[in-house]
Amino acid sequence: MKWKEKEWRMRKPSTLLLIAAIGVFGSTTLAAQNKVGAEKCKVCHKIQYDSWLTSKHGKDKEKGAQCETCHGPGSGYLTLAVMKDPVKAKAAGLIAKPAKTGCATCHKNAISDEALATVHAHKAKPVTPERR
Ligand code: HEC
Ligand code: HEC
Ligand code: HEC
Repeated sequence: MKWKEKEWRMRKPSTLLLIAAIGVFGSTTLAAQNKVGAEKCKVCHKIQYDSWLTSKHGKDKEKGAQCETCHGPGSGYLTLAVMKDPVKAKAAGLIAKPAKTGCATCHKNAISDEALATVHAHKAKPVTPERR
C-alpha cells in the first residue's frame, strides 16, 4: 500500500486523527468492517494485550495505537472460525504483519526492525512450525 504523502501532510490534524482512528494500516476496501475494541481481542490474545496496555500505544487513548489501528478493524475476522484460518482472516481485513509504512503515519523518525518486532510481547512459538 502506498501513502499519498502530500495529501496526508495537507490534511488538518483533526482529519488525520480521525483517519488514524479508523485504522491507518487498513485499506479503503475495509470500509465495511468496524472496530470492536481491544477488550475483545484480549479474550484470546492476553499476552499481546497485557504488554500493549502498559506500552505508550495502550496508555495514550488519544494519540496511541489500538490493536485495530495496526491490525485492521476486527468485526469481520473476530470469530474463532475466521481467526484460525489465515486466508479467511486476511480476506476479512486482518493485517497479520503490519508494515512500517503504517507506523510512519504517527512516527516521523524511521522505525527499526526491532521496534517493529517488539511493539508488543508475543506468544512463545508452539511446536507446529507454520503457526505462532
Ligand atoms: C475467539 C478468539 C480470538 C479473538 C477474539 C481474536 N483472535 Fe486473533 N487469533 C486467534 C487465533 C486462534 C489465531 C491463530 C493462532 C495464533 O496465531 O495464535 C489468531 C491470530 C491472530 C493474529 C496473527 C495472524 C497470523 O497469521 O500471524 C493476529 C494479528 C490477531 N489474531 C489479531 C487479533 C486482533 C487484533 C483481535 C481483536 C480485534 C483478535 N485477534 C481477536 C483467536 C482470536
Ligand atoms: C503499533 C502497532 C501494533 C499494535 C497497536 C498492536 N499490534 Fe499486534 N502486531 C504488530 C506487529 C508489527 C506484529 C508482527 C510482529 C512480528 O511478528 O515481528 C504483530 C503481531 C501480532 C500477533 C501475531 C502473534 C504474535 O504475537 O506474534 C497477534 C496475535 C497480535 N499482534 C495481536 C495484537 C493485539 C490483540 C493487539 C492489541 C492488544 C495488538 N496486536 C496491537 C503490531 C501491532
Ligand atoms: C496512531 C498512531 C501510532 C501508530 C500508527 C504507531 N504508533 Fe508508536 N507511538 C505512538 C505514540 C503517540 C507513542 C508515544 C509517544 C512517543 O513515544 O512517540 C508511540 C510510541 C512508540 C514507541 C515507544 C514505546 C514505548 O512504549 O515507550 C515505539 C517503539 C513505537 N511507538 C513503535 C511503533 C511501531 C513499530 C509502529 C508500527 C507497527 C507504531 N509505533 C505505530 C503512536 C503511534
